[in-house]
Amino acid sequence: MPSTLVSPSGQKPLSEAAKQFRYDLLTGLNAPTQAIPSKYFYDQRGSALFDQICELQEYYPTRTEAAIMRRHAPMMAACIGDNARLVEYGSGSSLKTRILLDQLNNLDTYLPIDISKEHLHAAARELAAEYPQHAIRPIVGDFTKPLDLPEASSPDMNTCIYFPGSTIGNFTHEEASELLQAMRDTAGQRGSLLIGFDLLKQKDVLEAAYNDRKGITAQFNLNLLSRINRELDAQVNVANFEHKAIFNEQAGRIEMRLRSRCKQSIRIDDQFFQINESDEILTEYSHKYTVEGFSTMADEAGWSCRALWLDPKRYFAVMYLEA
Ligand code: SAH
Ligand code: AVI
Repeated sequence: MPSTLVSPSGQKPLSEAAKQFRYDLLTGLNAPTQAIPSKYFYDQRGSALFDQICELQEYYPTRTEAAIMRRHAPMMAACIGDNARLVEYGSGSSLKTRILLDQLNNLDTYLPIDISKEHLHAAARELAAEYPQHAIRPIVGDFTKPLDLPEASSPDMNTCIYFPGSTIGNFTHEEASELLQAMRDTAGQRGSLLIGFDLLKQKDVLEAAYNDRKGITAQFNLNLLSRINRELDAQVNVANFEHKAIFNEQAGRIEMRLRSRCKQSIRIDDQFFQINESDEILTEYSHKYTVEGFSTMADEAGWSCRALWLDPKRYFAVMYLEA
């Protein structure tokens, strides 16, 4: 990766994170199927828009998972046990985590990990004020890369990885499988995993969840282009793109794209990309699972299912697994 890049103003050097963003963006735009990794949705504005998505009537996953948590949190806390470390991957606003924190009386530490720095720090400050009895140690980082977690204070402590929100669905099956294996290594021999994943359901319910009437998901998708303009030396006319989300039945996933409204050229540093009308840039996969399919993948990654909770409509699942 070149290290002499400068910011759009030509003054300030790019941060390491911005250099990585530029590198991943150019790699994705030069690929045969143009794509931008979905983790770049989450700058401060993207995280705020995601919080708005969670409130939408059409976006059933958040309220469904929260209802499962409210109903079964005492049992989940019993599975996790006393004096555990709770490590959350992609913690966002930690809203559902609060339901769990309310039940975990003797927690050793809560370590929320997120790539969205300002949002994570704001969430951690609020949590620290609300939960003075818990030690809260936020970690800004990319959980797909090796993580530098503090040493556990005791060798027989349960490190429980909490991964809610069906964020696992944003990875291909191969990536998800690798991530589950890496989590198994991070959690250790006595570790556990509490994970939420979205289930396959009717196409119209799925497509409505990613094409809301207020257009918040569209803003979330298009913010990726605004972020490129804000953080890199780039010229992208955001108004020349539109949001698109469809359910790919064969692959069992929502596919979100940015579709070009016209023939246009975009510039990133000294690279120009010619884009035709109707060309599309892939921005996110959101895989939907069956309980059996997910269990098999987790099993192959070294996890054993110990408990499973579903909502009455079987829209969403929360699973507790041990290493
Ligand atoms: N767990 C929350 C938020 C889910 S949104 C919930 O269930 O509502 C996905 C979150 O994961 C965002 O906060 C995003 O910033 C974070 N995220 C996405 N990819 C990431 C990565 N590779 N490393 C760290 N955090 C990531
Ligand atoms: C974070 N992730 C699981 C969300 C999802 O449903 O795939 C992100 C999202 N994309 C559009 N709406 C919500």
